[in-house]
Amino acid sequence: MYRKKALLIILYCFSHTIESQVLLKFDPDEVLLFAESQYEKAINQLKIENGMPRNGHSDGSWNQKPIEDWTSGFFPGTLWYLYENSKNEKWLKAAQKWTAPLEPLKLFNKHHDIGFMVYCSYGNGYRLTQNKNYKEIILQTSNTLATRYRPTTKTILSWGDINEKNPKTHKVIIDNMMNLEMLEWASKNGGSKKFDKISRNHANTTLKNHFRKDFSSYHLVEYNPNTGKVQNKSTVQGFADDSMWSRGQAWGIYGFIMMYRETAIKKYLKTSENLAKTYFESLPIDNIAYWDFNAPNIPNEPRDASSAAIVASACLELFELTEKKMYYNQAISILNELASDKYLAKTDNYSCVLLHSVGYKPINSEVNVNINYADYYFIEALIRLKKLQIKMFKNKQ
Ligand code: GLY
Repeated sequence: MYRKKALLIILYCFSHTIESQVLLKFDPDEVLLFAESQYEKAINQLKIENGMPRNGHSDGSWNQKPIEDWTSGFFPGTLWYLYENSKNEKWLKAAQKWTAPLEPLKLFNKHHDIGFMVYCSYGNGYRLTQNKNYKEIILQTSNTLATRYRPTTKTILSWGDINEKNPKTHKVIIDNMMNLEMLEWASKNGGSKKFDKISRNHANTTLKNHFRKDFSSYHLVEYNPNTGKVQNKSTVQGFADDSMWSRGQAWGIYGFIMMYRETAIKKYLKTSENLAKTYFESLPIDNIAYWDFNAPNIPNEPRDASSAAIVASACLELFELTEKKMYYNQAISILNELASDKYLAKTDNYSCVLLHSVGYKPINSEVNVNINYADYYFIEALIRLKKLQIKMFKNKQ
């Protein structure tokens, strides 16, 4: 009770440090407690031998996937965040348990997503425990990811076999920006310095080729593997080649502000800001993106809570690094909606946090479902918000 009152005072003081700000309509601690109760249900019923939880059902069960699935790091990552927030040993044990099966990924080279998979799980685990074994696994995974880098294109190959003889194309998707965080971390923590070079080169090439004049993003850019020239720009998960797939845009906003944090290179900040501007100018009134901003049947198209959660978290980082209050406002306007009964999985017997995400609409896969990465970035955003509030409060004193 005392804790809650103290938090409300902090929230009140914080809300008066920023002019004309969007008011927070929920208590982050209450939502985090709700997340704990949902994930408690999940860990009590999931069997680890069935694989990594990816998306779930109203009866509380989850679809579980092999560790090679690109989303395998998000469930353990969420458990690490719950531990970070609560300091409760129960979450530490659960996070350790659900992280351990991912170790073989350190040598997995079949796609680029090992950055997501290993940094969300082992990366958070190392940050919170300093476990040396976790560090070794992250460094080894970074070596593996670096084998997908090609100096001709100056990019990391997203999809495709690196051992293919004479490939005709080199595919890079915007999502790949997110894998660079692990390389940046590794280059500063005992790994090769070339990881930083690779990730800067990848970001620079993406910056050159992945965006239209209005700063909406292409999902997929294909390069000629022999010359590095762009061959084609298209979509896979979006509505059309020239549409703005909302999660792709979210990966870009998040990926470039992360690269600015890691390198202090101004053009990465500018890019994140430009991408965010386009995203926010295109949002519907309730601030939750449709799965694609150009989907044909808007307003009767599904929303994507995962895109919203990624952008909310990125906007809190944009606010922290620029001190521009509009980014705080944008984050809060999204979080207010996600923390409402419309999006929180309070009905039925779900054992997740957020409803209403879209995975891969063009093939009708995971449309209007709960999905592990929406929970991960939502909880990350709530924790970032709490840290920001404490920092602002201290600065005021
Ligand atoms: N990286 C795949 C996706 O965002 O769906």
